[in-house]
Amino acid sequence: MVAVAILAAGRGTRMKSNLPKVLHQLGGHSLVERVLNSCQLLDPSRKLVIVGYEARKVQESLNQVDSLEFVEQTQQLGTGHAIQQLLPHLQDFTGDLLVLNGDVPLLRPETLQNLLNTHQYHQNAATLLTAHLPNPKGYGRVFCDGNNLVRQIVEDRDCNAAQKQNHRINGGIYCFNWQKLAQVLPKLSSNNDQQEYYLTDVVKYLSPVMAVDVEDYFEISGVNDRKQLAMANDILQTRIKDHWMAQGITMIDPDSITIDDTVELQPDVVIEPQSHLRGNTVIGKGSRIGPGSLIENSNVGENVTVLYSVITDSQVASGCRIGPYTHLRGHAQIGESCRVGNFVEIKKSVIGQKTNVAHLSYLGDATLGDRVNVGAGTITANYDGVQKHPTIVGNGTKTGANSVFVAPVTLGENVTVAAGSVVTHNVPNQALVIARQRQRIIEDWKTRVKDNNK
Ligand code: UD1
Ligand code: CA
Repeated sequence: MVAVAILAAGRGTRMKSNLPKVLHQLGGHSLVERVLNSCQLLDPSRKLVIVGYEARKVQESLNQVDSLEFVEQTQQLGTGHAIQQLLPHLQDFTGDLLVLNGDVPLLRPETLQNLLNTHQYHQNAATLLTAHLPNPKGYGRVFCDGNNLVRQIVEDRDCNAAQKQNHRINGGIYCFNWQKLAQVLPKLSSNNDQQEYYLTDVVKYLSPVMAVDVEDYFEISGVNDRKQLAMANDILQTRIKDHWMAQGITMIDPDSITIDDTVELQPDVVIEPQSHLRGNTVIGKGSRIGPGSLIENSNVGENVTVLYSVITDSQVASGCRIGPYTHLRGHAQIGESCRVGNFVEIKKSVIGQKTNVAHLSYLGDATLGDRVNVGAGTITANYDGVQKHPTIVGNGTKTGANSVFVAPVTLGENVTVAAGSVVTHNVPNQALVIARQRQRIIEDWKTRVKDNNK
């Protein structure tokens, strides 16, 4: 049986943030969510999260996750002190305890499985992940004898000059025989530079303790400050992009592109520079995104082009051309083979197939049929200052340039709207609506003005 404990009580002083460190975001998830996800494969029988600084916020952020137990560490006196808080909760527990640092977000599930297997195979009292880092600054150093049996772990700030030469670092990820750990936890002291109770000191009292190297040391990169957060982001982005390129996605200038790992891409998608795909976004086969586009929580069909545009919480069906400079938001649904163009904003509207909204429009709370042609500058006046109202436009209707639909209003099928009309009443099928002043011409105006000035 395996229980998992996640250390998430620290403030993360080095982040210089009001937000608890473990709630900082990385590629669409908080750090602590990522840590939780990395251990799901092990199907632990218990999942305990140790919270302290801004405990309620951390707890609330995880309220979607099933069967978590929160253990409060009211004063943050160190990682050892944090694990001591588990004693009353795991009194009768007899299996292994996997301890994860809430600020080590890039672990692969297989690595944890491997750690657990090694731990159980050798019947170790403790097994921990280590790596040889080119720059080990800030990490605890692990000292082993020839067989990877750990003698001592010394924190960076407690190391003497010779100890600092050791580049083998502690990843902060451990597997313990819980019964053995529980016996030695009360022995910890805070006799060190930070006057904290270090979990790493338990290795003095346990045996055997084994170190397991991770192949890819990026996996155990910790996030202690903003620079390390940015580095973790780089590592994650490289992983995500390498994955999608291997699945048949083209990226032009990948360094300028960001993709959350919740995004799904189908083969032959091309992503151009400066494009960002976030949240639960899906992009269909052969679509071309960018340059310069942001798509969040949206579904884009096949063979769509999106050029310099922003799409959030919306759907675009196959064969559409979006942009340049289109903003789709608030559950806009664009039907197949539409053209939505320059400086057009569409909010909470349903657009049929082969409909064009090519220039300078705002459509809000509208339903448009198929083959509608929306003239340049057409606007729905959907808000009366208190409520939003709907506009309905039937199949085949053509709206003139600069027309305004004062909602609620319905235009039938194959209607023609004269340019500059302000439409306030419903229009039947096949009609022409002209809702503006007739043009007047007053001749010799210029001459008269001149005469008056004499
Ligand atoms: C820790 C390890 C270090 C290792 C590094 C790997 C110790 C003493 N040191 O150092 O050997 O190389 O991680 O990333 O364990 N936390 C609590 N309660 C506390 C203090 C911390 O829950 O009282 C949590 C923090 O929220 C964080 C984690 O424990 O998620 C690690 O704490 P941090 O202060 O970042 O430890 P490091 O100095 O990085
Ligand atoms: Ca840390």
